[in-house]
Amino acid sequence: MKIKFAEQADAEIAAFVIDENGKLPAAAAKLDETTGGLLSEALAQERFTGKLGQQAYVVLPKSAPSRRAVLIGGGKAADRDARKKERIGAMLVKSQGSSGFKSLALHVEDVDTATRAAQGAELASYRFDDYFTKLKDDDKPSLEEVTLILSEAGKAGEDYKHYAAAAAGTALARTLVNLPPNDLYPETYANRIKELEEHGLEVEVLGEAEMEKLGMGSLLGVGQGSVKESKLAIMKWNGGNKDDAPVALVGKGVCFDTGGISLKPGPGMEDMRGDMGGSAAVVGTMLSLAMRKAKANVVGLVGLVENMPDGNAIRPGDILKSASGQTIEVQNTDAEGRLVLADVLWYAQEYYKPEAIVDLATLTGAIVVALGHHHAGLFTDDDGMADALTKAGLESGERVWRLPLGSEYDKLLKSKFADMRNIGGRAAGSITAAQFLKRFIRDGQKWTHLDIAGVAWVEGDKSPIDPSWASGFGPRLLDRWIADNYEG
Ligand code: BES
Ligand code: MN
Ligand code: ZN
Repeated sequence: MKIKFAEQADAEIAAFVIDENGKLPAAAAKLDETTGGLLSEALAQERFTGKLGQQAYVVLPKSAPSRRAVLIGGGKAADRDARKKERIGAMLVKSQGSSGFKSLALHVEDVDTATRAAQGAELASYRFDDYFTKLKDDDKPSLEEVTLILSEAGKAGEDYKHYAAAAAGTALARTLVNLPPNDLYPETYANRIKELEEHGLEVEVLGEAEMEKLGMGSLLGVGQGSVKESKLAIMKWNGGNKDDAPVALVGKGVCFDTGGISLKPGPGMEDMRGDMGGSAAVVGTMLSLAMRKAKANVVGLVGLVENMPDGNAIRPGDILKSASGQTIEVQNTDAEGRLVLADVLWYAQEYYKPEAIVDLATLTGAIVVALGHHHAGLFTDDDGMADALTKAGLESGERVWRLPLGSEYDKLLKSKFADMRNIGGRAAGSITAAQFLKRFIRDGQKWTHLDIAGVAWVEGDKSPIDPSWASGFGPRLLDRWIADNYEG
């Protein structure tokens, strides 16, 4: 979608936000006057109350500069937060995207509404339809261009660069999550990451031989039942001061999770194509940072594997040796994400001495039970990080909710045969998973774990912002967090 900002412009569709007070804003009132009251008549006839998202369409006379007017409810002006402004842009794209018209101009009053609605429009125009071979022209969207009309168009356009970069990162994350596991597996995934070099990122990819030398038996154990070679991809963005330690973003990239020998039940297993959502969040964020030339040093590290049952697969009872030297008794091969992250977290600390680490993973079904699909779970001992990420979540619309860590939970990982086991038991499944990761974090290292199993893809009703299956959760949150905490 082409997004523009202008003080004035004509488009085939003219859209206006109507507050719950039902009053036409100035630009709409003017059109109402020149069309002999067509807009106010539509509002009266359609019981229009202005509640968020309500829409009324008006066919305009030939003499008007646009062919159609769309009045969209904006709810109460006082409660119109970032998420609601975003939804206004998204709902317009949803309703007008296949209208046959190519251009839409949305009249708004302030810069924040303009940039948020524009990002909503951009996110709503995302499509994942390359695999449909029989799409008719009428199934494809017609809308190509959305222009935000406001007096401070210059400022809005400048601010929008940030939002556009976050939207591009989100779109990339979505595509990675949406791609089927026969086309996106560790090697092809690493190749796609390599392509990001054209945006100025430095990319390095390690294969199994290199990881073996590093002693990464935990990550390699997960991949050993797959015919696909495991990979570790590292992306560097050095936009900050040369001597500043980087922020490290670490992602779980299980390209498909069958559960391994502890095989998952059949129904719904196809969702596990999205078990690389944490890594997609990292890759998408790295693209966003590069696109807007962020003034920070950030390194993204993603462990890419496939968890398959096979004659060579790890068994419950196997003991793996991680790169940190600690041994792990595998009691359930389906608790594989933590095994991957253990070695990637070690590598991040060993080679990058990061200022702070955030890891993201579709780690546990238990987080879906706890928080559903509207917040990611956040785990950290660092109150400052928790507050900063929570704030970035509210600002970006990708919300997080803190859950506890504690030594009582850590005890549940005790093994009879090794330094730890890879599951905790029935209780507090998301917390014991976080405690497991914490065992690979060095003393004094700032670190936060985000369990995104409930938010990486959309269950049930799709919102207009998330038109495909994958939500692309991560880049908007992390880009905001980095901008607010590590740049200038
Ligand atoms: N990838 C899953 C977690 C998951 C579940 C993500 C549902 C998204 C939706 C993870 O690897 C897993 O299988 N976790 C197990 C852990 C258990 C064996 C301790 C789980 O949550 O059941
Ligand atoms: Mn699993
Ligand atoms: Zn998994």
